[in-house]
Amino acid sequence: MGAGIAEVLARGGLAVVGVEVDRDALERGRGHLESSTGRAVKRGRLTAEAQQEILGRVALTTDFADLGDCDLVIEAVPERLDLKRRVFAELDRVCRADAVLATNTSSLPVTDIAAGTSRPSQVVGVHFFNPAPVMKLVEVIATVLTEPDAVTGVAELVKGLGKTPVTIGDRAGFVANRLLFGYLNGAAAMLESGHATRDDIDTAMKTGAGLPMGPFTLMDLIGLDTCLQVLDAIYAESRDRRHAASPLLRELVTAGLLGRKTGRGFYAYDGVEQAKPDAPDGPRPVVGIVGVGPLADAIAALCDRAGTQVRDSAAELAGCDLVVEAAEDAEAGRALLSAAAQAVKPGTVLAVTSVDGSVIRQAMATGRPADVVGLHLPDPAAPLAEIAATVATAPDVAGRAAELAGRLGLTVVRCRDRAGFIVDALRFPYLNDAAAMLGAGYADADSIDAAMTLGCGYPTGPIADLDRLGPDRAVTVLNALHAETRDPALAPTPLLVEHATAGRPLR
Ligand code: 3HC
Repeated sequence: MGAGIAEVLARGGLAVVGVEVDRDALERGRGHLESSTGRAVKRGRLTAEAQQEILGRVALTTDFADLGDCDLVIEAVPERLDLKRRVFAELDRVCRADAVLATNTSSLPVTDIAAGTSRPSQVVGVHFFNPAPVMKLVEVIATVLTEPDAVTGVAELVKGLGKTPVTIGDRAGFVANRLLFGYLNGAAAMLESGHATRDDIDTAMKTGAGLPMGPFTLMDLIGLDTCLQVLDAIYAESRDRRHAASPLLRELVTAGLLGRKTGRGFYAYDGVEQAKPDAPDGPRPVVGIVGVGPLADAIAALCDRAGTQVRDSAAELAGCDLVVEAAEDAEAGRALLSAAAQAVKPGTVLAVTSVDGSVIRQAMATGRPADVVGLHLPDPAAPLAEIAATVATAPDVAGRAAELAGRLGLTVVRCRDRAGFIVDALRFPYLNDAAAMLGAGYADADSIDAAMTLGCGYPTGPIADLDRLGPDRAVTVLNALHAETRDPALAPTPLLVEHATAGRPLR
């Protein structure tokens, strides 16, 4: 991270002094700088001369005294408060009295670090995002002790570097990590519970929610030790058990499997490409749809795009490979599917579209639950189908359902019959947290959305997502998650309930 920040500053034309603890660490830092700028040269984004100029602006040293002339010092040592305090004591001693001291902490209290110096009014947080040269957000953290000039000065500098500053107060995780890490830890808990596999969770969030990376790929990029430290710090403040680090994450860290930087984390980075399963081959399935409404229309449109035949009259269901129940009302859906179950040939897969953990209830009502799966399209515009198997689904039926959905041109992931399947179970708690943050007045809607789009590469921010998906849908899914887990943090936040009731968007 230190090397990434040094690169950003040097690319912005500033002279940089980089301090490391010893010669080896210094060489590693130099290596990072050379390879990161080298990649840009290879991609034609930077000329070799410009690369040399950038590298020439960074002086590397192991002597803190070399920081004596700096206007701003950014500390990026590992996330341990004792270590940060020691570094700040040293900086306080060697830096000019008017120099601003900044910490790139992910989640430790900036106030704690500032209070240990003789210049707490000159101490701010500047939080960069990984990879620092790419991500456009920088959170600028002001404590109750920080002088406004120090904050505006740093925010201006950040703008001059081509990044977007979001200025906020000193709370664990600030905006982006506070929202991101509940979701990442939720994904780890989902994996650990056996609800879905690592690859299916990553695929679901990339393909179904449009995120640039799945949660496990992202945690491996951030570093699992950093993830653990961030979660521990956020949990210490929130006492929300969703922030209590997943035992799996802790185990990987204890084993020294820290992600990309050590060659193994949730994934192995050994240069061996994982074989991708072939796209399912075979004739387009004949699909029956029972029920009417927007969901039925969306499924019909999908079948149309895939060039498959759709049958929606009871008399035609006998010839279908897959019958999808897409009624707007669960009771009506149950009756329609039970009738369809009598009409279809053996081997037809019956799919239920409810995602509140009640596929099993619908399945039992058909009298042939072994043939029933849950089917969810988290975003009708995204090519993802989530298939849920209940305890009664025959194993070959879940496989056949996945194959049929694949032949409709969809990417398929599989999970158990739990509220929200994969995508909604992970995204709505995150959206709820964002609404709660807005309701508490910690940050405004623009800052919250900017944090996630510019800091984490999300296609849209959470407040915009809530308005697109609808506060009423958010409340429905959250109520289902809350009913299933009884976790108080999953109950829809009052602001969301209010907007859903009023039928008004959050913006
Ligand atoms: N260093 C420097 N540049 C890098 C890089 C790296 N490690 N990785 C990628 N890049 C550059 C590439 O050179 C390329 O630049 P170009 O467009 O100028 O040619 C650009 O990024 C895109 O790279 P790729 O085409 O190889 O890869 P992708 O399109 O898959 O993008 C990604 C990679 C930008 C990392 C994207 O997947 C993404 O946005 N992921 C989400 C990252 C994220 O969430 N970061 C925040 C983590 S939380 C955090 O850091 C806070 C901390 O406190 C824990």
